[in-house]
Amino acid sequence: MSLDTAASKPHEALAGLLADDMDAVNELIETRMASEHAPRIPEVTAHLVGAGGKRLRPMLTLAAARLCGYDGPYHVHLAATVEFIHTATLLHDDVVDESDKRRGRPTANLLWDNKSSVLVGDYLFSRSFQLMTETNNIDVLRILSNASATIAEGEVLQLTAATDLRTDESVYLQVVRGKTAALFSAATEVGGVIAEANAADIQALFDYGDALGIAFQIADDLLDYQGDSNQTGKNVGDDFRERKLTLPVIKAVAQATSEERDFWVRTIEKGRQDDGDLDHALALMAKYGTLSATRDDALVWAERAKSAISSLPAHEIRDLLSDIADYVVARLN
Ligand code: IPE
Ligand code: IPE
Ligand code: MG
Ligand code: MG
Repeated sequence: MSLDTAASKPHEALAGLLADDMDAVNELIETRMASEHAPRIPEVTAHLVGAGGKRLRPMLTLAAARLCGYDGPYHVHLAATVEFIHTATLLHDDVVDESDKRRGRPTANLLWDNKSSVLVGDYLFSRSFQLMTETNNIDVLRILSNASATIAEGEVLQLTAATDLRTDESVYLQVVRGKTAALFSAATEVGGVIAEANAADIQALFDYGDALGIAFQIADDLLDYQGDSNQTGKNVGDDFRERKLTLPVIKAVAQATSEERDFWVRTIEKGRQDDGDLDHALALMAKYGTLSATRDDALVWAERAKSAISSLPAHEIRDLLSDIADYVVARLN
């Protein structure tokens, strides 16, 4: 599939279909990211929110709600809640990862400082909780607060797992399910819940979000090694420099000779990296074909996402959600 045809940009097609809802979400985000009392808050939030972002997760919430026939107002609150949680986690994540580029701009931790990123992240988390309570729906509060806890848990698990060469694919999956897929699955699930869809349809939406989120993060981890920094808005090789074991490296470590293992111990476990180490890491990944094996895994999860929603009633939005699963991994072609 080529990336420059309209059909290969299903998130744009979905954004077009949900344009009025998305406008309402963006308006709500704008009003709620402000603060009368602390000028640093709008500075930081405007920097990050103004840089755009794909708005994929709030779109999933709106899509799920509409797909299930919802015609009330609260899917907009839920979508904004989801984007606030996402934005808060990005602020915190860039501090933890010591990243200097996000959405094609310098990160807030670089432009201001870690303190501002942590505290404004906390503010956005709290704002997200205020927003979701406005729905008066205890089920969505449960789902989104569980997701917040699970995201934090995934990020903390990654702290210890990422530089430990014993981390295998199952631990990687646990991290990814937590730090990334939990918000995708909550985003789609709450759309079904607010629409009072039946239990099977809500489960299908959850399963779709879970598999999509996993495919998305595997793709992101692959792009870290083989992406175009102009397109991803992030630097190539950051994960290696940050000593983060992601799937392409985990697969190479699993097949390493003892000499190669020494290389991984030095660069990832001990964090002693020299010029040329990233190139050597890439050569080892090429030797074992781990980038293409990682891509294959992403494709499998995208297929799982599609099959999860195949049981939902036929609907234009269902087909676009299915295309989005393809699109998330088409970035890898
Ligand atoms: C970035 O997510 C964080 C990950 C889970 C990899 P996105 O790539 O959706 O970020 P934005 O919102 O579009 O910038
Ligand atoms: C992002 O994880 C997941 C969350 C924000 C919780 P990463 O650290 O892998 O994502 P990027 O590469 O910084 O976007
Ligand atoms: Mg990061
Ligand atoms: Mg991270």
